[in-house]
Amino acid sequence: MTRTGPIAPQAPHGPAEIAARVTWIGALDPDLRSFDIILKTANGTTYNSYLVRGSDGVAVIDTVKQEFTGAFLARLEQVARYDEITTLVLNHLEPDHTGAVPEFLARAPHVEICVSPRGVQVLRALLKDRFDDYKVRVVRTGDTVSLGDRTLRFLTTPYVHWPDTQCTYLEEQNLLFTCDLLGCHYCDGRLFNDAVGDFRFSFEYYFDHIMRPFKRYVGEALDLIEPLEIDMIAPGHGPVLRAHPRDYITHYRRLITKRLASETGDQKTLLVFYVSAYGATAQMAGAIYEGAAESDDVRVSLFDIEGGDVTPFIDLIEEADGLVFGTPTINGDAVRVVWDMLSSLVDIETKGKLGAAFGSYGWTGEAVAMVEARMQGLKMRVPEQGLRIKMHPTPAELEDCRDFGRRLAAHLAGRPMEREIDLSALLGS
Ligand code: FEO
Repeated sequence: MTRTGPIAPQAPHGPAEIAARVTWIGALDPDLRSFDIILKTANGTTYNSYLVRGSDGVAVIDTVKQEFTGAFLARLEQVARYDEITTLVLNHLEPDHTGAVPEFLARAPHVEICVSPRGVQVLRALLKDRFDDYKVRVVRTGDTVSLGDRTLRFLTTPYVHWPDTQCTYLEEQNLLFTCDLLGCHYCDGRLFNDAVGDFRFSFEYYFDHIMRPFKRYVGEALDLIEPLEIDMIAPGHGPVLRAHPRDYITHYRRLITKRLASETGDQKTLLVFYVSAYGATAQMAGAIYEGAAESDDVRVSLFDIEGGDVTPFIDLIEEADGLVFGTPTINGDAVRVVWDMLSSLVDIETKGKLGAAFGSYGWTGEAVAMVEARMQGLKMRVPEQGLRIKMHPTPAELEDCRDFGRRLAAHLAGRPMEREIDLSALLGS
């Protein structure tokens, strides 16, 4: 059933001027309910495209999703002729911003396309054998395009959230075009942040799911943006931020700053999570915890996650230096709550964190290796082979667990222990 939600009050049927000679020519998508499959969009989204008119040139900043090409071109044609458009800026080449590019270029083949160094690779894939027909300029931080009495200056801001992302600054009007950065999925035809409904939830939800895994890069982007005079931020999705635009930059800075106060000083933090069916994996967890806790360099915490709600741990995990997961093997697999926790890590940066796995098993014991593979997939470093113990651990095996914990702590402290080689085991005796 086609839904027709009148969820864009006062939606502009045509283009909308957002500043002198700067016009919104984007598209409203009030019926969208999920974006990129994973994001819920409770009241849709917008695909914002802008047209900037200078005394000697006209630029289009980003386009829209392919299915909205008609609405985009119709708005554009009300404010400019194709033969006077000199520049197409593509701040980000994901299809929701470039879907209309082929149709646009068919009408304005003479424009100069400005993309970031990584953007050119995606543009080539987008245009395929037509790529060489167009004039493409690779732009970097500080490069400019003159439109006569208007100047566009580029800021290379990669990984917010694709490698290609950049921002564009309209110097004479202190107006920053940010594409996904500082955007949100919120559809309201009143366009401006001081006119639309309450989009605070959408703004943070978008950050959490799109930008949070790239906090480091968001910080680098903010380093470039914060020194600018900013009168308006024009993102690629959601409201145009004309009221208190700097508050949103400040808020992003807050969001990328550590959320949890810590008294650990220089100590590294290690979190041990486990689930146990018959108590054996719990015994292992306790011993690993004890072993790691012997180190003064590491603050170790132990959590039984059988209760199943992993969400409260995400902030903790994000700021931890090491993660250890304990799971029994049941039906040849790790248990579901462990998978739930591992899958929720997609929203945070895990690259480089220490990871380790352990667990008791009855027959086959695949779970530990599966968890290790997942951690490696998350680009965590897994320096110690996972620890598996058949059934309940013996006192000697519990000492192995303590030693495992000691070794993990030593890795975190930057002083990995020499591995003692059991020659009798090598000889098979
Ligand atoms: Fe709005 Fe990353 O695309």
